[in-house]
Amino acid sequence: MGDARRTLADYFELVDVAQDRLNGTNATDSRLRRITKHAVPVRFRGTARMLVTDAITPIQRRKARRIQQEPPALRLHLGSGGQPKSGWLNVDLAGDPVELVWDLAHGVPFEDARVDAIFHEHLLEHIPLRAGAGLLDECYRVLRPGGILRVGVPDAGALLESYTGDGTYIGALHPDRPTRMLALQELFYWHRHTTMFDEETLALLFRAAGFPEPSRRSFGESDLDSAPDTERRRAETLYMEARKPLA
Ligand SMILES: C[S@@+](CC[C@H](N)C(=O)[O-])C[C@H]1O[C@@H](n2cnc3c(N)ncnc32)[C@H](O)[C@@H]1O
Repeated sequence: MGDARRTLADYFELVDVAQDRLNGTNATDSRLRRITKHAVPVRFRGTARMLVTDAITPIQRRKARRIQQEPPALRLHLGSGGQPKSGWLNVDLAGDPVELVWDLAHGVPFEDARVDAIFHEHLLEHIPLRAGAGLLDECYRVLRPGGILRVGVPDAGALLESYTGDGTYIGALHPDRPTRMLALQELFYWHRHTTMFDEETLALLFRAAGFPEPSRRSFGESDLDSAPDTERRRAETLYMEARKPLA
C-alpha cells in the first residue's frame, strides 16, 4: 500500500507541474494573453476569451471582407494558438497572436471558393464532433477547386494500439506515468479535448465534407509548397490532406 501511495503521489506531482506549465505564461504568449493570464483566474479564461471574441465579431467580419478583396493567395491557419505561421492568415479566439479573431463555431468568414489552402493542427479535438464536421464543411465551401485542406490531430488510434501492444509509443509520448491508462486518459480528458481521431474517423469527416480522396501524410509530407507542420507536434500527430475536386 505504501508503495502504491508513493507512486500515486508522484504522479499527482507530475500532473500539478504540467497544469502549472499550461496555466502560466510562456514565450509564445502575446502581451494581451500575458495580461489576461495574470488578471483572470484559470476557470474564467475560456469564457473571457469567448466574450471578447463575440464582442468584436462585427469588426472582425468587416476585416475578413477586406482581406478577401486583396489579391494575394489566401491561406488560412485555423486555431493557430501560440504557433502563428508566416505566409498564412492566422485565426483563433481573442488573446492569441492572430490576424483574425474569430470563433470558428460561427463558420469561416469568407466567400465560397475564395481560399487557396487551409491548415489546422490540434484544433479538431477541441471541438464537438458535429461542430467539427461542420467546420470541415466550411473548409470545403471556402476552398477554391483544387485548393488543399491539411489537418493534424492527436493520433489516438496509435496510442490505443500501443496501449494494447508493447507500450513503447505511449511511453515515449507520456513518460513516467505509473500506468498506460493514466497516459491515455490525459489524451482523452485533458486540455478540454472533446473528440478523438484515428485515420478512419478523420477520413470519414473529410469524405462527408466532400473531399473524395483524403490521404494520410507523414510529418512534412505535403502537396503544399512547404508543409506548415509544427515540429513539437511531430511525434503525436496524425496528418491528413485532400484537394477539393476541380469540378
Ligand atoms: C491545442 S491549441 C492548438 C494551437 C496550435 N494549432 C498548436 O498546434 O499548437 C487549440 C487551439 O484551438 C483554438 N480553438 C478552439 N476552439 C476554437 C473556436 N471555436 N474558434 C477558434 N479557435 C478555437 C484554441 O483557442 C487554441 O488556440
